[in-house]
Amino acid sequence: MLAIEAKGVKKFYKGKAVLKGVDIDIKAGEIFGLLGPNGAGKTTLISIFATLIVPDEGSVKVLGYDIFKHSQKIRRMVNITSGNPNFPWSLTVKENLNYYAMLYGIPKSSRKKKVEELISLFELDEYENTRFDELSSGLKQRLNLAKSLINDPKILFLDEPTIGLDPDIAIKTRKLIKDIHEEKGITIVLTTHYMKEAEQLCDRIAFINRGRIISSGKKEDFISGEKILKIKYMRDGKIFEKEFKAGEIRKILNKIKGEIVDIEILEKNLEDVFLELSK
Ligand SMILES: Nc1ncnc2c1ncn2[C@@H]1O[C@H](COP(=O)(O)OP(=O)(O)OP(=O)(O)O)[C@@H](O)[C@H]1O
Ligand SMILES: [Mg+2]
Repeated sequence: MLAIEAKGVKKFYKGKAVLKGVDIDIKAGEIFGLLGPNGAGKTTLISIFATLIVPDEGSVKVLGYDIFKHSQKIRRMVNITSGNPNFPWSLTVKENLNYYAMLYGIPKSSRKKKVEELISLFELDEYENTRFDELSSGLKQRLNLAKSLINDPKILFLDEPTIGLDPDIAIKTRKLIKDIHEEKGITIVLTTHYMKEAEQLCDRIAFINRGRIISSGKKEDFISGEKILKIKYMRDGKIFEKEFKAGEIRKILNKIKGEIVDIEILEKNLEDVFLELSK
């Protein structure tokens, strides 16, 4: 089943096309990564999927429902967060979650339980009475993710979920995203500028540049896994450098006449692909 089915999506701002006919299929249950340089159209596209803005042309179905006809229904089944969380600053963690539970129309009888469940799932117990403006960036992001599950979404849109977090907190946040995905089996669509994050989390990836999808497929299709040995050696006082496909080491060494100075193992990663495709 498809979580998202988009065809020929176009969006214009002041006559300028920022999405120029995007086709995308996102399967239910996968983690799908939308990658691309600044201004490529990532936020615009996921905002359309989350029914926050409407496209000017094209068709989009979310969980089988047309975004033009059934936006209310879709909104109940999805949630979206951006990496720059903004909450009512003077409310505590618990009050904020309660507030959003109310906005999502969760009945009073189950609201308390839901909020407690999320506080516990995201290990926010210690901070439940701390005001939003007193939280660190990492905790704000944790609250942000907790909020995004308040309506038990079937699709979660994460717009740069680890932006501005230090490496340690970013790693924990990624793990949390992975855990949520495994535990709840929901579809996750994320945008990121961190290629490592995409490599670690995503099943499939699409590269978008200037409003067009320029490549998409399984993560493995982008990372060939082929290893290259870069060997530096010295002969007659001069340094030479050669690259070999990884293979039988004796065969490779036989080709080198001289003294090895350095060996590097290279592997094409998503960062290389991103740089190539962003040109
Ligand atoms: N409300 C708006 N009014 C006018 N132009 C807009 C609006 N929102 C986005 N744009 C423009 O649309 C283009 C795509 O923006 P978008 O935010 O979708 O890119 P992005 O891929 O999310 O970029 P980033 O990686 O920097 O977040 C940009 O040129 C941006 O300036
Ligand atoms: Mg963006």
